[in-house]
Amino acid sequence: MANAQVPFSFPLAHFLIFVFVTSTIIHLQQRIVKIPPLSEMPTGDPAVTEMPGSGEMPGRSQLQGMFTINSIGRLGNQMGEYATLFALARMNGRPAFIPAAMHSALAPIFRISLPVLHGDTDRRIPWQNYHLNDWMEERYRHIPGRYVRLTGYPCSWTFYHHLRPEILQEFTLHDHVREEAQAFLRGLRVNGSQPSTFVGVHVRRGDYVHVMPNVWKGVVADRGYLKQALDRFRARYPSPVFVVTSNGMAWCRENIDASRGDVVFAGNGIEGSPAKDFALLTQCNHTIMTIGTFGIWAAYLAGGDTIYLANYTLPDSPFLKIFKPEAAFLPEWVGIPADLSPLRKH
Ligand SMILES: *[C@@H]1O[C@H](CO)[C@@H](O)[C@H](O)[C@H]1NC(C)=O
Ligand SMILES: *[C@@H]1O[C@H](CO)[C@@H](O)[C@H](O)[C@H]1NC(C)=O
Ligand SMILES: *[C@@H]1O[C@H](CO)[C@@H](O)[C@H](O)[C@H]1NC(C)=O
Repeated sequence: MANAQVPFSFPLAHFLIFVFVTSTIIHLQQRIVKIPPLSEMPTGDPAVTEMPGSGEMPGRSQLQGMFTINSIGRLGNQMGEYATLFALARMNGRPAFIPAAMHSALAPIFRISLPVLHGDTDRRIPWQNYHLNDWMEERYRHIPGRYVRLTGYPCSWTFYHHLRPEILQEFTLHDHVREEAQAFLRGLRVNGSQPSTFVGVHVRRGDYVHVMPNVWKGVVADRGYLKQALDRFRARYPSPVFVVTSNGMAWCRENIDASRGDVVFAGNGIEGSPAKDFALLTQCNHTIMTIGTFGIWAAYLAGGDTIYLANYTLPDSPFLKIFKPEAAFLPEWVGIPADLSPLRKH
């Protein structure tokens, strides 16, 4: 296919498309040759690792296909993807395998049990991508295809809440992670006495401070919201202590009133190693969250009273096309509406 033989009248664009299509076909043929017929994959393929605690053997399940999911985002997203895969694979009667990257994100913190796909195996499987919205739909009970890779950022309880005991089991903290958080909480004193009610407060700042107003016509939690949320717990429980974690601790110190002596700025806010902050929140009895999946998961695992920031975008925000509040927040959680006046000034 030498360039020089192409007549000048042959438009360049057509020629480039021809080259592209030809090379793609050749490339695809080579790839297809490399993929062994799936029925011939040996039982117990060493590239598919069994994790301790997993009951499923890959041999038989490979014949009936399998589900996996993309591994994208930080901890809260990864947890949402894991739980959604867990639930939808079960619903569709397929075994679930997680990508190696998801295992790296979750296994240091939780006693997760789904088996891991090693990179080589993952690349050899002819996955069909299947996009998910972040809320359960009837069609997800009958997802077509044998080798299905779920995609998107699913996190909604509507996928997995019917399996809550199993999801809590999957996200059980490793003993050393749990013990570190417990030791911290045991050391807290409010006016000299050990508190009996711990309220985890997660304040999501970081990129969201700019992304919410600029991309989504929304706001992040302000000091007014946090004051209302803390006061509700103060009214409801005798001497609760508030354990604040955030990726913007400096802002929290300036904007959360700690003068009563019942607020501890505990988090380190290190996004790359979220285990400590996350464990602290889940070991508290109750949760105040702002926005983001990290707080949603902390509240889901803590399992106590939960206050969330509600209606934090303008009604015409594009955010509401990808986010359904009723699918994100459990019905028993209590929303406090955000103050949108800063948006309306612009
Ligand atoms: C702690 O004691 C101070 C002084 O008596 C009091 O003003 C404050 O309200 C107490 N804080 C709590 C959380 O009970
Ligand atoms: C509240 O949380 C603490 C720390 O995890 C725990 O020791 C205590 O049992 C919890 N209280 C209730 C009522 O669950
Ligand atoms: C959020 O807005 C919806 C629609 O206006 C409203 O029904 C709901 O009560 C609001 N939520 C809160 C917590 O104020």
